[in-house]
Amino acid sequence: MRRWWRWPCRETPYTGWGVAGQTRPTDPVDLSDRQSGFMEGIAAARRVGMTGRDAPGEVEGKGRGGAPGAPRSLVGRLLGVSLSAKILIANGVIVTLAMLVAAAAAVGLFGGPVDRAALLRVAPLVLVGAAASVAVNAVLVRLALDPLRELERTARRVAAGDLEARAQPSRLADRDLRAVIDVLNEMLDRVAAYRARLRAITARALEAAEEERKRLAQELYSDTAQSLSELMIRLRLARTKANGAERDSALDEVREGLAAATERLRRYASDLRPPALDMLGLLPAVEAYARSLAEPTGFVVRVRAAPVAGLLTPEAELALYRIIQEALSNAARHSGAKEAEVVIGREERHVVATIADSGRGFDLAEAERRGAIGLLGMEERAAWVGGTVQVHSEPGRGTRVVVRIPVPGEERA
Ligand SMILES: Nc1ncnc2c1ncn2[C@@H]1O[C@H](COP(=O)(O)OP(=O)(O)OP(=O)(O)O)[C@@H](O)[C@H]1O
Ligand SMILES: [Mg+2]
Repeated sequence: MRRWWRWPCRETPYTGWGVAGQTRPTDPVDLSDRQSGFMEGIAAARRVGMTGRDAPGEVEGKGRGGAPGAPRSLVGRLLGVSLSAKILIANGVIVTLAMLVAAAAAVGLFGGPVDRAALLRVAPLVLVGAAASVAVNAVLVRLALDPLRELERTARRVAAGDLEARAQPSRLADRDLRAVIDVLNEMLDRVAAYRARLRAITARALEAAEEERKRLAQELYSDTAQSLSELMIRLRLARTKANGAERDSALDEVREGLAAATERLRRYASDLRPPALDMLGLLPAVEAYARSLAEPTGFVVRVRAAPVAGLLTPEAELALYRIIQEALSNAARHSGAKEAEVVIGREERHVVATIADSGRGFDLAEAERRGAIGLLGMEERAAWVGGTVQVHSEPGRGTRVVVRIPVPGEERA
């Protein structure tokens, strides 16, 4: 039984690990979009002067409903008060009316002689009863709606840039509102995890770029520059040779040295950015990389491809190339297998590449705990051009990486 895995899904409880062919995650949740939507909502609320206690009707009145400052009807004003005030007013009115009717009946106001003494005794009781009812309701409503104020405070802190802010649920709060707080906190946790991941990838990318520069500088200096200086000395010596045959042989050596130095320079340049990708396209570039892997290690890569030239933008092609490169490099370094296969083709509105080996496989959860920046980087590169990466692996069962990159202009066709 194979597990299947997709990086963005690890952040959502709805779309996590599953079983290949049985469970498919929903599309990855774009937390940044959610977060920005959330922030935009807060900004919009600020623009119209809305507070957490404003009712929607009030916002309309301020935002687009008529001239500001225009007198409003009593009903309009009542609808404009906060939810807790509405509940309390409605409650107070109902309780007071009920008690007045009961008192009126008790003192005989609905027939028979009016008992004035009873009326004087009952009136204070009615007032105290109504006041007590409103007070108890006020406390209950306040406790129940407290999470709304907590949500507002937290949302404001997040809007001000404090992404560590979390809403504190009160145990006396209404159950449904506590659930809203839990959802907000969960969303903020995911945003924080996503940011942490991006930071790790950025740090790794900067580190890798620095290492690469260092390696190139060393190689250019100790290898190419030094051999060119040596060739110059040899050239000078060759010119001093009186014997024509000796001079020719010395010049041949210099020419061979120059050819070797040129080849090394070509390799360094190709490491930086494969020229085949720009000049010949994705497939020749992948084949050239496959050959370069085979040379030092003997690791064989079979490449099969349908015609996909011109389907992707240059950025998307480069992203796909780098993902295939990382997946093949992983297969060569970690799988223990002697060969791997790359299949590139078109599936409906996507270019799809599958990189598979039948090596030792690995535990994805374990790799995730250790960081797995290479795998994360593949996912981020794919996401950058609107695509996805799925890694199917299990110890002892090989590894299959599936990359899907949308063909521009056909995403929704
Ligand atoms: N094809 C594979 N076969 C077996 N194990 C793999 C394969 N691909 C990845 N792994 C495992 O997953 C781990 C994480 O891979 P990842 O590419 O993220 O990191 P890495 O290759 O170790 O380092 P980096 O890519 O940063 O140089 C690897 O260390 C390896 O244990
Ligand atoms: Mg790797």
